Amino acid sequence: MAAKKKISRIGVLTGGGDAPGLNAVIRAVVKSAIREYGLSVVGFLNGFGGLIKNQARELSENDVAGILPRGGTILGTTNRDNPFHYPIEKGGERIFVDVSDRIFENTSIHGVDALVVIGGDGSLAIAKELYDRGLKLIGVPKTIDNDLYATDQTFGFDTALNTATEALDKLHTTAESHHRVMVLELMGRNAGWIALAAGVAGGADVILIPEIPYDINCVARKINHRSNQNKKFSIVVVAEGARPIGGDVVVQRRVEDSFDPVRLGGIGQIVAGEIEAITGKETRVTVLGHLQRGGSPTAYDRILSTRYGTAAVNFLMEGRYGHMVCLKGTEIETVPLDEAVGGQRKVPPDLDLLKSARQLGISFGDA
Ligand code: F6P
Repeated sequence: MAAKKKISRIGVLTGGGDAPGLNAVIRAVVKSAIREYGLSVVGFLNGFGGLIKNQARELSENDVAGILPRGGTILGTTNRDNPFHYPIEKGGERIFVDVSDRIFENTSIHGVDALVVIGGDGSLAIAKELYDRGLKLIGVPKTIDNDLYATDQTFGFDTALNTATEALDKLHTTAESHHRVMVLELMGRNAGWIALAAGVAGGADVILIPEIPYDINCVARKINHRSNQNKKFSIVVVAEGARPIGGDVVVQRRVEDSFDPVRLGGIGQIVAGEIEAITGKETRVTVLGHLQRGGSPTAYDRILSTRYGTAAVNFLMEGRYGHMVCLKGTEIETVPLDEAVGGQRKVPPDLDLLKSARQLGISFGDA
């Protein structure tokens, strides 16, 4: 039997939409790989694109100095460039082909023994396919949406939540001054984690999330009830994936060569228009958008990212390939990648935070 090849060089890449804390993970991977294990590290640029096109840079401890508090990713990222569904031009037409062979060629050119893939469900699903075909790798769960199955929390979520909460604090003062209804549309795709948590932290009166389809009349009732109690303004948080009972989500655009081509957006404007029409109250809408993905990570995200990064290297060195590091309670563990990408984590109806919110009188538009 051939001897197991010792790992002496690893690669790292960041894939999918960016999230605060990516640089903190890269830093932790590079520093622990070099300091703890004497490895060398190469970073592939722009997600799997860099592995397909052979775009890479060596990463030393100096290269990651000072990046802990920086948002974004020094390696670049993309939510396109799926090696199993890669667009090329042929005979004047755009067709999709499997270019995954190039990934094996390029890891070999760079002498990479194993890879750390930092990404969300799309990147981790690609990682799982590559692992099934023989590439040694480990995943690190990233997304502001916090919707990854098999981890209690992804890094990036806490920062997005803080940004959204700060926005709600600001909307409160102007809403109160003008006696208006303020609608804030937040990201999160098909999960309501950001909207729920920010809504509670920011003292919203109504929170609409994908997991609880709403009736706009219930929302209007809540706002009128507040008004009757001499509370002349209201704050409504709407997750981009929220939808009315019996209705559908609002799709803003499609990005065909991305893992999940649907981009949600626009429900805030619809909800605001309906509130104004039913209650007669002046209503304004804010779409927080990509501000939720930017900026310096919170202390919580810096710590979680650091723990994920060091654990990813430790587990790789133990030979735990084809897994994703995850948070279970307060401990960092791993789960097999097929479990990690096996479903989306939604807000469960019996979630304690949901119950607390209802107890405070926050409306979810369903009663
Ligand atoms: O998954 C992260 C996320 O920010 C979602 O909340 C949002 O729906 C989507 O990405 C936006 O994608 P893009 O950056 O392609 O507009």
